[in-house]
Amino acid sequence: MARAVKPTRGAIARAAKALIRGRLIGLPTETVYGLAGDATNAAAISRIYAAKGRPRFNPLIVHVCDLAAARRLARFNPQALMLARAFWPGPLTLVLPRRVQAVARRVAAGRDTLAIRLPGHPVARAILRAAARPIAAPSANPSGRISATRARDVSAALRKYVAMVVDAGAAPVGLESTVVDLSRKPARLLRAGAITRAAIEALLGPIETAGDEGKARLAPGRMESHYAPARPVRLDAREASADEAYLGFGGTRGATLDLSPAGDLAEAGRNLFAALRSLDRPPFSAIAVAPIPRDGLGEAINDRLRRAAAPRAPRTR
Ligand code: TXA
Ligand code: MG
Repeated sequence: MARAVKPTRGAIARAAKALIRGRLIGLPTETVYGLAGDATNAAAISRIYAAKGRPRFNPLIVHVCDLAAARRLARFNPQALMLARAFWPGPLTLVLPRRVQAVARRVAAGRDTLAIRLPGHPVARAILRAAARPIAAPSANPSGRISATRARDVSAALRKYVAMVVDAGAAPVGLESTVVDLSRKPARLLRAGAITRAAIEALLGPIETAGDEGKARLAPGRMESHYAPARPVRLDAREASADEAYLGFGGTRGATLDLSPAGDLAEAGRNLFAALRSLDRPPFSAIAVAPIPRDGLGEAINDRLRRAAAPRAPRTR
């Protein structure tokens, strides 16, 4: 069974060694924990898909330790360089035309683009530097389920599959990276995150948003049901019934749990996934969620909640 270990220098070296040997690890990042494997190792990539029960057509994000490494994997246009220089290291993923054979074929799931991210978390960066190779890391949750923001969330679902989970505490952002597709014009927001639409549009001008049609092929993380607790989720709830847990925001009266009593969206983002997990239990039969503002980080929070509440896709595991 995989142990959660504190990110000592020795643990970071062991984590890098495990990756180099083709094993998977639980990797802390500033957004969520990743299920990490060597992106150049086809067997490691297959293990990631198997562990998550991830559909074969849903490509993985590759993590790198600097811009030079990123540029060996994909072609950066001026817009991509602008975003990378402004927001890397940080919670932003760029989808770019990929260079052939830079990573194992299944990482890109047959696409001619590659999603790349340079994380800001110091432990992630130390492991990436020590491993000295591109590292694929989807969020460390079974496909379609709630993302992992703590080491114990990774262990709970994936301990059989990882050599170790590096425990750097709760993820400081708590929501997955913003994903922007720059392989096309105009650029397109595929997933809202902590780098807000406004921050990106301040540099690029107006960008498109992935429409709801044909999404399963475009970016399966955008499939309707995702981030799903076992219990149904009801949104924009002004009150909860007796058998519902009530997830509040900004001091909601009668809340079972409040994402941010002070009404701070960053705090709410940090708490969201752990809150959904903790309310997904008896005696509650459903989770009602109070309205949450849609501006700034609220776009990402509402996106995750909408998918958590969406009609459920059939489970693969
Ligand atoms: O914050 C994050 O991005 C976390 C941490 C661990 O880095 N990772 C993460 O990975 O959220 P994952 O696999 O859960 O989400 C990746 C998303 C999926 O929606 C996937 O479909 C999309 O990125 N994606 C990956 N490659 C793509 C590509 N070439 N074109 C379009 N979308 C892509
Ligand atoms: Mg995910």
